[in-house]
Amino acid sequence: MNISRSFLIAGSVYLIVGILFGAYMGGSGDSTLTPVHAHINLLGFTLMTLFGLAYRLIPGLDEGLLPRLHFWLHQVGVLLLLLGLWLMITGKVAETTIGPVFPVLEGAILLGVVLWLVNLVRRA
Ligand code: HEM
Ligand code: HEM
Repeated sequence: MNISRSFLIAGSVYLIVGILFGAYMGGSGDSTLTPVHAHINLLGFTLMTLFGLAYRLIPGLDEGLLPRLHFWLHQVGVLLLLLGLWLMITGKVAETTIGPVFPVLEGAILLGVVLWLVNLVRRA
């Protein structure tokens, strides 16, 4: 698995979805989805593209288990967090039901970033 390529492609898929959300919000005047749009673009496109570029540029950074754990923790955490946020904001799932799941997903993303930092300290 090529971590850099996977992060870059996933990031740009998020960008397309983020732009579609933005276009819908701008067109409809409905800005309730702003947090979802913002984090699709920021946790999705911006961070994933930055990770993808760094894994390509820094020699050895993409080797071993840490980059793979980072990739999957970020993918699963971000996807489920944004999906959950969308379900909550649109009222499809009650805040009391989905609320307790958010810290778990945030923890997964955070753990991925800690592994990223450990890897950077070792190899950057
Ligand atoms: C064609 C593409 C885009 C469109 C049409 C669009 C549209 C919008 C709209 C309508 C809002 C809500 C503004 C409001 O009601 O206050 C918004 C907010 C936001 N957008 Fe976009 N957007 C686009 C691309 C992006 C991209 C690429 C990023 C980041 C990389 C981004 C980051 C944000 C952020 C952070 C906010 C929240 C700003 C705040 O808190 O006031 N957007 N966007
Ligand atoms: C798991 C990670 C993250 C969590 C849990 C989180 C959570 C939040 C929350 C609760 C808000 C306030 C939303 C509101 O009041 O409506 C917010 C706003 C914001 N966050 Fe994050 N955030 C995360 C990651 C990031 C990252 C990585 C960036 C930038 C690269 C970022 C940029 C922003 C911006 C620009 C806003 C204001 C946009 C808005 O009004 O929705 N966040 N975030």
